[in-house]
Amino acid sequence: MRTCRIAPSILSADFARLGEEVRDVAAAGADWIHFDVMDNHYVPNLTVGPLVLKAIRPYVSLPIDVHLMIEPVDALIPSFIDAGADIITFHCEATRHIDRSLQLIRNAGKKAGLVFNPATPLSYLDYELDRIDVVLLMSVNPGFGGQSFIESTIEKTMALREKLDAYKAETGREIALEIDGGVKPGNIARIASAGADTFVAGSAVFGAGSPEGYAKVIRSMKEA
Ligand code: DX5
Ligand code: ZN
Repeated sequence: MRTCRIAPSILSADFARLGEEVRDVAAAGADWIHFDVMDNHYVPNLTVGPLVLKAIRPYVSLPIDVHLMIEPVDALIPSFIDAGADIITFHCEATRHIDRSLQLIRNAGKKAGLVFNPATPLSYLDYELDRIDVVLLMSVNPGFGGQSFIESTIEKTMALREKLDAYKAETGREIALEIDGGVKPGNIARIASAGADTFVAGSAVFGAGSPEGYAKVIRSMKEA
């Protein structure tokens, strides 16, 4: 059986109590914390940066998965590394030099990932798999929590799974396949069958409203 990681997105958490919220989802069985960074330029919304990452870092020992929805990315990568990021992902369209941005992250000893919008072709991966630890497929258009899952992501996930399995057979290296947007207990089984192993869930987890609720949703996602 394939790994199943749940990565609650802080976007739907109570920002006035962010430290406790990430501690509560960690205790509720989360595997990664998904930290959504938006700049009101690459995406039409504005969230948080390295200062907030640094503030929540002491609350969890789980990997913090920083999803950059900012453009450009290189100048800010060192600040997120200093603030305690374990994984940093950025969008194919948000940097002039994908290879350079990936190397900036990996040279600091952190895991690097490339993010694909619903319409972005997987061909960006062709020469970069050796420098990638995570591929993140957006199953909504980036910018907001609580949107509906875009169905074409299923076919894209299957195509990506084939690519990553072939790469693993050749090199022995495993690359995570993460899905972000509209993931719920009701559709996670289908997304997992298509080949995903890591699932971002914002509104589904934090919408449950209490630490008991978080645990219940995370458990039902893993069971599904
Ligand atoms: C969207 C963000 C997502 C979002 C997911 O741009 O990258 O991480 O918070 O939220 P849900 O799970 O509510 O779709
Ligand atoms: Zn995200």
